[in-house]
Order: sequence, then structure tokens, then C-alpha cells
Amino acid sequence: MQPSKLHSCLIVMSMFLLILSSYFLLQFSKNLSVFKLILVNSSSTCFNPHDGSEELKPVSPPSHHVPELPKGRQELACQISDSGNRLNASEQDRTMACDPNQALLRVYMYDLPPKFHFGLLGWRGSMNQIWPNVSNPSQIPRYPGGLNLQHSIEYWLTLDLLSSNAPNVMRACTAIRVQNPNQADIIFVPFFSSLSYNRYSKLQGKEKISVNRMLQVKLVEFLKGRNEWKRLSGKNHLIVAHHPNSMLVARRKLGSAMFVLADFGRYPVEIANLEKDVIAPYRHMVKTIPANNSATFEERPILVYFQGAIYRKDGGAIRQELYYLLKDEKDVHFAFGSIKANGGVNGAGQGMASAKFCFNIAGDTPSSNRLFDAIASQCVPVIISDEIELPFEDVLDYSEFCIFIRASDAVKKGYILNLLRGIEQNRWTKMSTRLKEIAHHFEYQYPSRPGDAVDMIWKAVLRKISSVPFQGHRKNRYRRSQLTVTNH
Ligand SMILES: *[C@@H]1O[C@H](CO)[C@@H](O)[C@H](O)[C@H]1NC(C)=O
Ligand SMILES: *[C@@H]1O[C@H](CO)[C@@H](O)[C@H](O)[C@H]1NC(C)=O
Ligand SMILES: *[C@@H]1O[C@H](CO)[C@@H](O)[C@H](O)[C@H]1NC(C)=O
Ligand SMILES: *[C@@H]1O[C@H](CO)[C@@H](O)[C@H](O)[C@H]1NC(C)=O
Repeated sequence: MQPSKLHSCLIVMSMFLLILSSYFLLQFSKNLSVFKLILVNSSSTCFNPHDGSEELKPVSPPSHHVPELPKGRQELACQISDSGNRLNASEQDRTMACDPNQALLRVYMYDLPPKFHFGLLGWRGSMNQIWPNVSNPSQIPRYPGGLNLQHSIEYWLTLDLLSSNAPNVMRACTAIRVQNPNQADIIFVPFFSSLSYNRYSKLQGKEKISVNRMLQVKLVEFLKGRNEWKRLSGKNHLIVAHHPNSMLVARRKLGSAMFVLADFGRYPVEIANLEKDVIAPYRHMVKTIPANNSATFEERPILVYFQGAIYRKDGGAIRQELYYLLKDEKDVHFAFGSIKANGGVNGAGQGMASAKFCFNIAGDTPSSNRLFDAIASQCVPVIISDEIELPFEDVLDYSEFCIFIRASDAVKKGYILNLLRGIEQNRWTKMSTRLKEIAHHFEYQYPSRPGDAVDMIWKAVLRKISSVPFQGHRKNRYRRSQLTVTNH
């Protein structure tokens, strides 16, 4: 047979098959929607049949010990997570009042005295008032500004739980605060540990121990005395310790709990690890660039941007090596010094917004808020930090919107520049478009919205409880970035 005839034959045959299969699918969906079929046997997996670009699929099917959820809870959860994932503004705005029976994750929160949480912000309630009234978003206590904000995760999660009981606040319904610990899937410890570290570590006046240390000692005492803690030796507790130095006093004693962390850099593996803990994004410091206002490939004159401190020890020495490799390149911005000293957060935001790529290089810890600043600026992150842990990596494939370079490769002469200059406009635009699609997963806000950072953290907690193994996307990290080098 001649090649051209073979071709036409193949085309005719495949068209026939296509029509046939569409017909069957149509018949099938008349009786039973695909949506329902998939829902029946999985409780935490959501699947959206209308959207081929669906991004939040767990890599592996849920394991057998997924907690049983009433059917109503499953369907509601899936409607909501669908609306959060699609990038349609009006869809994202659609939130609804929450029914506790339908939440995916029921959370009990200890009524700790305000000195453990909002009191640290300077909030004073009336006599015996433990929590601020969060009904009016414009009247919630403010978290202090500046760099403290990058670790404000404790604040957003606590506010979100409080608002789950305020009927007029519209938010995502993933997590709901319940008043009975026996009905809870997890028990939340509302201690603002990062703020406590940032603001109360120094001895004041005649204090023998700092407020930060005192609060941790009291917290350990409190938790160890609770039946809720004793029942599962703390495994059913959720503790936020986002600043790498927060909870230094208590972390070992409370190490059986699930932690919300920035990375594992300063933790021994038996206290914190991917099996039980959740990695949460930093709150970014630069302003988010609206997707419709983002500079294109050609409009970004800087090839790659980095602004940060020099570290000469641990993993951070690589910054200095890269500096010497790149400092003479005209289209590279590589500068040391704090953000404050170099045009402030606004300066950094403008720099990132006019760069095609933004470095995220290991410093004194494997993670930093720079990655999330880059995402908010739609500047494709270049991650040179072998030990970094990435938030929500079980549902997000970072290799779609980040370049990963091993530290050992990064210091080879010419390697980075070859790789980055080899990435053509098409590929860059694809990554940048993907950045715009996923950027809302890294936004903290009050009230929370479907698919935002708070919502994603609750879902990550839920997946931990369900203990779905997730190694798939981690394997992609270097594989994809490597392709560029060989293609080039
Ligand atoms: C789940 O699937 C199995 C077969 O794989 C079936 O026997 C069972 O009835 C299903 N469960 C529900 C809740 O429908
Ligand atoms: C968003 O979704 C709604 C409902 O699905 C639809 O009516 C609307 O046209 C969409 N808007 C955009 C900008 O796609
Ligand atoms: C909280 O504030 C709202 C008005 O902002 C008010 O209607 C409501 O009663 C308050 N709730 C409590 C428990 O004080
Ligand atoms: C981008 O969208 C926002 C609201 O959706 C609108 O106010 C703004 O004018 C738009 N900007 C551009 C440059 O189109």
C-alpha cells in the first residue's frame, strides 16, 4: 500500500472509532454521570469531568484507610474544590455558607487564653473573651506588618476556623470548627508560635525567661495534661510552627503532632518529616501582579533576578559561588543585601516583574519567601536548593512552572546561562501561563476562598490524615529541567 493511502485509511478508521466512542459515552452519561461514578468510591479525590486541564489530582489513588465521609460531605467538597481550581473569577467568587455536617475536615480548636494567640498581636477582648469577633472582615485584629508577615500562617488558619462559625462570612467549606473534640478529625493548637518567636524572644525587664519560652513551656504542660492528647499521644493534633526557629523549646516534646512548617531544615527527621507534616507556603511580600497585567517574555529585559543575603556556611555558600559566575552578565541582576536596603519590597517586586527567571537559592534554610514572591510576580522560579520542600507537591507538579537545578550543576561554568538562554519564548510562556493558573494557591486572605493557601493547607492536612503516599511529582523535579539541557 502507498504511504498516502495508508494515511487516509488510518484517518478514516480513527474517525470511525472516535464517533463510535462518543456515541457510547453519550448513552452512558444519560443514565449515570461520570462525575457520580467517580465519586462513589473515593472520599477525598475530586474529579472534574468538564475540565481537561484539571490540576488537583492526587498522584496515587487514596489508600484504604481514608476516613469515611458521609456522601453529602463528599459531593459538597468536590463542588467547592472544582470552583476553586478553575480560573474563572466569577467561579472563584462563588462561596457558600457552611454546614458542619458537610465539611471535609472537622477541626476542634482549644480555647487557649489570648496570650497564646491574638493577645500577642496586642488584641484585648472584653472580660473572659477568648476570641475576637470575626464577623466583620474590616474589624479583625491585624497581624504586624513587615517581614513578620511571611510566617503569618498561624493567624490565617485560626481566623479561618473562627469564621467557619460566623454565619455571615462566606468562605470555602473545607474545614469547619466543631465544639466537641470527639467529633473532630483533628485538633488544632492555636498558638501563634512564629509571632511569639519574632516578637517575644528577648528578655524584657527583669524576666528570667522570655515570653516565647514561657508560652511554650505552658503549652507543653497544657497539652500533655489533656485527654485528647493522651488518647493518641498527640498524633491527632495540628501545630503551626512556620518560622524555622519557632517552637524550639517545645518541638521535641510535641513532635508526635502534625506540624505545619516552612521546611525541615532545622528539624531532626524523627520530629518532622513528610510522612506526617505539612509544608505551607510563605506569605509572599511583593504585591501580586494581576494576570491580565503581567509582562510578556519580550517585555522582561532581565534574564534572571536575585536579591538576597550572603550566607557563607551550610547550604548557603553556593550564593557566593553563583555571584562570581554571574556578576559580569549584563542581563543578570545578582545582588547581595537585604530587600530593605535595595529599594524595599516594591523594588524587589519591580525587579522580579521585569525578569524572565528568578533564583531561589538555598540560604541559611532551604526555603524562603523568595519563591512565593517570584510566583506572585509571574517570574519563572529557578530553584537551586537540593533540600527544599515544596508546598502541596502531591497535587502540584512544580516542574510545569519551575526550573530545578542541582547545586552541583549550578556551579559548573556556563551551565545556568546555557540552560536559561536555551529556554525559548514558547516554553517560557507556557510556564508563565501555568504560574498564573496556580498563583491563587499561594494567596493568604481573609475570608479564605476556595483553592487559596488556607484552603490548600486544610486539604493537605486531610490528605495526611488519609496518608496517601506522594512521591510522584518529586521525581519530576530534575527530569524535566534536564530535558532543556539535552535539547539545547
Ligand atoms: C466500590 O467499588 C466496589 C467494587 O470495586 C463495589 O463492590 C462497592 O459497592 C463500591 N462502593 C460503593 C460505596 O458503592
Ligand atoms: C465563568 O463561569 C461562568 C459559569 O460557569 C460563565 O457563565 C462565565 O462566562 C465564565 N466567565 C469567563 C470569563 O470565562
Ligand atoms: C460580632 O459583630 C457583629 C457585627 O459586626 C454582630 O452583629 C455580632 O452580634 C457580633 N457577635 C458577637 C458574638 O458579639
Ligand atoms: C485587569 O482586570 C482588572 C479587574 O479584573 C481590571 O480592573 C483592570 O483594569 C485590568 N487591567 C488591564 C490592564 O486590563
